[in-house]
Amino acid sequence: LTLAGPREARGEQELRFQPPPAQRPVRLFTEDELARYDGRKEDEPIYIAVKGVVFDVTSAKEFYGKGAPYNALAGKDSTRSVAKMSLDPADLTYDTTGLTEEQLRSLDETFSNVYKTKYPIVGYTARRILNEDGSPNPNFKPEDQPHFTIKDEF
Ligand code: HEM
Repeated sequence: LTLAGPREARGEQELRFQPPPAQRPVRLFTEDELARYDGRKEDEPIYIAVKGVVFDVTSAKEFYGKGAPYNALAGKDSTRSVAKMSLDPADLTYDTTGLTEEQLRSLDETFSNVYKTKYPIVGYTARRILNEDGSPNPNFKPEDQPHFTIKDEF
């Protein structure tokens, strides 16, 4: 009687441990979490979200750091501000309601040619994927978002 022997010989290949693929989980930011990265604290990373995508803009402290001209955009989703090239506090929001075709085109251009080109993506705003109460939004479909393309983000 022989029980010992190579696992393969006993047909056990499928039992061998398969390590999960090396992937970083997607980080979701609530508004409060994102607000911590508004550039106020020296030596902390600075994040800005555009179209729900959170970018690390720490390399551009001269734009977004404490006292810099565009610091107001940091620590939040500033989609509307970027679309309108406006620093009006009312435009410091994810809300794109009522933007013109021209502004939406400008938004997409800046999103692609500035943010996605210059800055690493660190996550996504929870708003894109969760309901107001924090539960997952099973109806979330990136392609349903206005002027949003997901294919080259992941
Ligand atoms: C008279 C008005 C303005 C002038 C002359 C101006 C000029 C500039 C210049 C020259 C740059 C590029 C700097 C560089 O790459 O070294 C820049 C970047 C930028 N501008 Fe303005 N700007 C003006 C108004 C605004 C306003 C109202 C906004 C509102 C959102 C804005 C948002 C930005 C942002 C977000 C960047 C940085 C983009 C990045 O991360 O590379 N600008 N601006």
